[in-house]
Amino acid sequence: MRLLVTGGLGFIGSNFIRHMLSKRRGLRVVNLDARTYAGNPANLADLAGDPRYRWIRGDIADPRTVERAMAGCDAVVHCAAETHVDRSILDASVFLRTNVIGTQVLLDAALRQRVSRFVHVSTDEVYGSVPRGRSREEDRLKPNSPYAASKAASDLVARSYAVTHGAPVIVTRASNNFGPYQYPEKALPLMITNWLDGLPFPLYGDGLQVRDWLYVVDHARALELVLEKGKPGEIYNVGGSHGCDNLELVERVRGLMGIPKDLVRRVADRPGHDRRYALDCSKLRALGFRHAYAFSEALEKTVSWYRARQQWWRPLKKGGGYQAYYRKQYSPRLKAEVR
Ligand code: TYD
Repeated sequence: MRLLVTGGLGFIGSNFIRHMLSKRRGLRVVNLDARTYAGNPANLADLAGDPRYRWIRGDIADPRTVERAMAGCDAVVHCAAETHVDRSILDASVFLRTNVIGTQVLLDAALRQRVSRFVHVSTDEVYGSVPRGRSREEDRLKPNSPYAASKAASDLVARSYAVTHGAPVIVTRASNNFGPYQYPEKALPLMITNWLDGLPFPLYGDGLQVRDWLYVVDHARALELVLEKGKPGEIYNVGGSHGCDNLELVERVRGLMGIPKDLVRRVADRPGHDRRYALDCSKLRALGFRHAYAFSEALEKTVSWYRARQQWWRPLKKGGGYQAYYRKQYSPRLKAEVR
């Protein structure tokens, strides 16, 4: 099989490609990735020289590039997206372009080239905040951040291609991923790498926001399963193995790393901050999915990975783009700490 993965230099995409190539000998992977700030060739440096893998640098919103990348592919796993909520609050435009228009361009090419499966990788954030209970796939979408709205829009475009054109589209909605190769702007890698440098972790608001933590390798396993056994036209929630609030997350990582309490700074909350996400994953379980990693084990592995792989994240954090973003996002907050 020849598989097109979009966004394969990103966090989820690179973990997915590594997982698939390690499991399937006969597989060929074409990775279409624009190498934005969060796409990093170092994420797949271990595949250099593997003849089964090819990276095409390009934008998913550019029809010519997409047509070329998809040529001869049997299936598509669409991971490419702008993903960071805080950045979408600062500037939503690239989120709309990449996440919505990019998805439409890919779907049009998939129709023309008659691929047998198109897995659209989405997020639990499309459901919005769920005060109680768990979101099911047929629930209403009530996205709150510009990021979540752009993903909800692309989910609906993907669904419309299944209904209108009979495209073999499957949508997955995953909860918060964590693990190796996550760009250090997201909560967990930011926390771990800041603490390795003796810097504070800025905790938004009261820290009682609940997230359902999914180890990225389990996510890759779920995508593999859905690609193989999922039903076209269906949506599958992909939840994690542990739901907890940010205060608990901070305490667990602090315990693992032996960090003093004063390296947690309560700062002004994120505007529109969703209070709680929780997924009902019975559909995915009915396909046979079980997590392979307990949360505590995966968290320990993750902390050890960032500790051992400082040559991976230090250059990212030193870069001018990261520094400028960090200042814009956190300087006003850290100056006005909430006590
Ligand atoms: P994040 O990794 O940005 O994922 P998402 O917002 O998509 O869930 O954040 C996870 C949680 O951590 C979320 O509730 C926001 C919170 N958070 C902080 O408290 N401080 C931070 O600096 C960041 C980036 C996130």
